[in-house]
Amino acid sequence: MLTGVMLIFAYLFGSISSAVLISRVLSLPDPREFGSKNPGATNVLRLGGKLPAALVLMFDILKGTIPVWGAYFLKIEPLMLGLIGVAACLGHIYPVFFQFKGGKAVATAFGTLLPIGLSLAGLLIATWLAIVWLTRYSSLAALITVSLAPFYTWLIKPLYTVPVTMLAVLIVFRHSANILRLIKGTEPKVGHKKS
Ligand code: G3P
Repeated sequence: MLTGVMLIFAYLFGSISSAVLISRVLSLPDPREFGSKNPGATNVLRLGGKLPAALVLMFDILKGTIPVWGAYFLKIEPLMLGLIGVAACLGHIYPVFFQFKGGKAVATAFGTLLPIGLSLAGLLIATWLAIVWLTRYSSLAALITVSLAPFYTWLIKPLYTVPVTMLAVLIVFRHSANILRLIKGTEPKVGHKKS
């Protein structure tokens, strides 16, 4: 019963599109209509700059962390914690409040993994930063980081390897347009504007 409530809460909380709401409040272009058309921090960075992007990033991370942490304190069993994290990401990707058109869930997935511990978070951040620093591609950094996430999880907390693999598959699938652009060489780099 409690687990079901937390699964629904995670999905509904994940469905709050911070990129759309923060852009609306700050009178910025709708991230679903401009740039990459993705309601996420990277696109808000393109369209509105660092501060709005940081707010979106923070909120999207919390959308993953709060339900998982809440469920942990409610003593919900580990496998279900993983599924609650997946539910939060599904909310972000297919938000019930925004016609089921959401983002790619990179920040929200990272938020769901934060309760596992700082060593995993540190590895993920270091990988993402290193790839962005080397290539300037946010999407490529996300793709490489999420592909390594199941391996990192297996090293640190093997119990969560299966749900983390589910998240990784979901996120790679959501990046199919980015993968095509990366292959064609048309993917915009961080700091470059795209119309
Ligand atoms: O986290 C999303 C990022 O990987 C790609 O975003 O806007 O370039 O499609 P975007």
